[in-house]
Amino acid sequence: MSKGPARVAGLQKLLEQNHIDCALIGPTTNMVYLLGIAPHSDERLCLLMISGDRVQMIAPELNADTISSFTDVEMITWTDAEGPGSALAGSLLRTLSPGTVAVDGSMRADFLLPVMEAFTPERVVSIDPIISTMRIHKSPEEVAILADAAAQADRAMEAAVEACRPGVTEQEIAWAAEEAFRKDGAEHVEFTLVAAGGNAAFPHHHSGENMLRKGEGIIIDIGASLKGYKSDITRVVFLGEPDKQFLKTYEVVLLANKKGRQTVKPGVSAEAVDSATRSVIEEAGFGEYFIHRTGHGLGLDIHELPWIQQGNEMLLDSGMVFSVEPGVYLPGKLGIRVEDIVAVTSDGVRTLTGYSHSLVIK
Ligand code: CO
Ligand code: CO
Repeated sequence: MSKGPARVAGLQKLLEQNHIDCALIGPTTNMVYLLGIAPHSDERLCLLMISGDRVQMIAPELNADTISSFTDVEMITWTDAEGPGSALAGSLLRTLSPGTVAVDGSMRADFLLPVMEAFTPERVVSIDPIISTMRIHKSPEEVAILADAAAQADRAMEAAVEACRPGVTEQEIAWAAEEAFRKDGAEHVEFTLVAAGGNAAFPHHHSGENMLRKGEGIIIDIGASLKGYKSDITRVVFLGEPDKQFLKTYEVVLLANKKGRQTVKPGVSAEAVDSATRSVIEEAGFGEYFIHRTGHGLGLDIHELPWIQQGNEMLLDSGMVFSVEPGVYLPGKLGIRVEDIVAVTSDGVRTLTGYSHSLVIK
């Protein structure tokens, strides 16, 4: 992958600026970002080690061919019979100890423990805040893939909405979305959250055997992975005639979503976008029922920087991609969330998700 080495070189520069001797990256999205791939992740020690002037990978022998077909990074392999001990002992870490090591926040703890035992680094920090400064700025190619992923999520939403009718379970709606994603070429379905009636008041409800009934609202929040990049969209369906309270709440949440997206442009702070959605909901008297941040960055991970929330004064910049997903949750009654993915452009914003914003009444 041509992008790999340039990103590794970019990280090496940051390591120097931050006085870090070596970065340790597991088979996570950080590795995908740097090399273009990550081998199958299991309990076998697999570590990409990046110092100022060297790059090495410790990998189990059984994954060696897969890795070398994608990248020419120097490899030290180990077999199940011998274990990773001597590979670690012969790695570039040996030349650095003691020093400052920056570790991948998402890698397994049992990868880090043998490193700590063998090398007792002076200081261990997280690589995540450093690598995030690269990952947060999406290239035009990355934005294009995220737009394709969003369009795919629109089509899966269509299938899920289509499947909504009284007597069908939340799980069956989730399956309709999952099937649509897979038939459409998604390599992985990340989540299919379907919450009907009172369940919709739990923002992270697990879709279950609960049956859809006439007179109830349904939150559908789905996302998948396309070429490594994630999608995330939420819409609301109502079966039958919604009452005044439901319609009013929906209008408020939708307006909050719009106001939030309209606020997005380079130079505006992340918290200003949160304030934009929150003030609409507060003015309508639902402030205490909007119980989460406005949004999260999206890329190789479903949740990554920037966090769209109070206290985050980070200024938005062209190439940042994140969700705008205000919600109102009235316990035992209803839950409404409208979620879109937006990309900051050079002079404003582009909404990547395209599914209709009207309340779907069936
Ligand atoms: Co979502
Ligand atoms: Co989201």
